[in-house]
Amino acid sequence: MIPHVELPTPPPLVHRGLFVAFEGGERVGKSTQVAALRDHLAARGVPHLVTREPGGTPVAEQIRALVLDPRHAGLDLRAEALLFAAARGEHVRAAVLPALERGEVVVTDRYLDSSVAYQGVARGLGRDVVEGLSLWATGGLVPDLTVVLDGEVTTGLARVADPDRIESEPLAFHETVRRAFLGLAARAPHRYLVADAADPVAAIASRVAARVDELLEAG
Ligand code: TMP
Repeated sequence: MIPHVELPTPPPLVHRGLFVAFEGGERVGKSTQVAALRDHLAARGVPHLVTREPGGTPVAEQIRALVLDPRHAGLDLRAEALLFAAARGEHVRAAVLPALERGEVVVTDRYLDSSVAYQGVARGLGRDVVEGLSLWATGGLVPDLTVVLDGEVTTGLARVADPDRIESEPLAFHETVRRAFLGLAARAPHRYLVADAADPVAAIASRVAARVDELLEAG
């Protein structure tokens, strides 16, 4: 009989900093909003780290290159989920957690919800399985705030010039991802800010900045 391996779910990780993730579909404007929040924090003199997933450390950047490479079109779906989780585990231990422990604000372009939406829901591996895998990989680190930029899939995909392995998926896949992010936000609205990606950049940025300032003041 094959033994069944149960991944222990760690309790939420406690730290002194503030962890903010940006999520959303392809080319929905995340990077612009990440940069706007970085400028806001810099202007206020708040120590911060801006990073991204997959990536953020030399090893995780190598995993990014591997997992997004369109030459690996037939990559096994479980291998894909494990690679994203491996990159995340490395990123958290080597970069995110040390900054949070120093009391900094960490802003990441994508995090765990991307795995849940893309691998768990759109790939069909199961939301809970994929979430559990990432929680195990990171030791239970969840964002204090997740900003979901919700935008028309066709608008985002039209901005993609040179599609990577995941951007090359059909429209229906990306529509499922979009719905999955909204579902995750609806599950815990106090930990999310959902913004319409079609709103003016400055309007979204000021909503995000106000929410982050509120969280910083609440300590
Ligand atoms: P980016 O270009 O927005 O940084 O996105 C990288 C791609 O990787 C994007 O198509 C979403 C995908 N992705 C996943 O499928 N699972 C994940 O866990 C992460 C972080 C990204």
